[in-house]
Amino acid sequence: MWQSPAATTGGENMSQSTYGPLFSASLISPAVTSDLPEKYTMRPLQRSDYRAGVLDVLKVLTTVGDVSEQAWIERYDWMAKRGDEYYILVVCDGEGKVVGTGCVVVERKFIHNLGLVGHIEDIVVNKDQQGKKLGLRIIEALDYIAKKVGCYKTILDCSETNEGFYVKCGYKRVGLEMAHYY
Ligand code: ACO
Repeated sequence: MWQSPAATTGGENMSQSTYGPLFSASLISPAVTSDLPEKYTMRPLQRSDYRAGVLDVLKVLTTVGDVSEQAWIERYDWMAKRGDEYYILVVCDGEGKVVGTGCVVVERKFIHNLGLVGHIEDIVVNKDQQGKKLGLRIIEALDYIAKKVGCYKTILDCSETNEGFYVKCGYKRVGLEMAHYY
């Protein structure tokens, strides 16, 4: 699915100049980006990332399904309209191909003085890019965003096999996850 950025420029309804990023790039930590491998970049998700391979990256995590570009656009626009709620970022290699992604969804509460909680979701790094600290940088960047927008904590669910990764990222096991699938 991935095409070079050059192949996407000028594409109808898909240029970044027409559609800005999902959130302000000023929320991407300069300290975290400076720790990325040479030529790698980190930025907010943008509408044109359908063609930059972001869904292929998510397939490393789980089933994505057959999402058309139109369906992607509709979901992206829905998230973009939510304003300060969805923060999805991507890591790109030197060719602009998306090789990692992660998300923090900000929940607004009544309790804790109208507190905000960040929910870390859909962290994934392409198989051939794992082990380069990209996952760690994604979490550091999402933590930075969550703190900057006012969250008092950030939480996530993961499998036992990933617990060690999140411990390295500064997280600790708290409570118990439960699920009800429909
Ligand atoms: N268990 C224990 N330690 C780990 C694991 C693991 N599964 N994965 C990485 N680490 C360690 C690394 O060895 C490294 O340690 P070091 O600092 O001592 O060298 C540290 O964690 C940072 O590792 P990274 O190189 O940043 O990890 P990577 O870029 O490979 O990303 C990730 C880790 C995101 C889990 C990746 O393996 C991946 O995409 N896996 C498949 C998808 C997945 O399971 N995602 C998590 C879903 S849970 C959620 O989304 C909330």
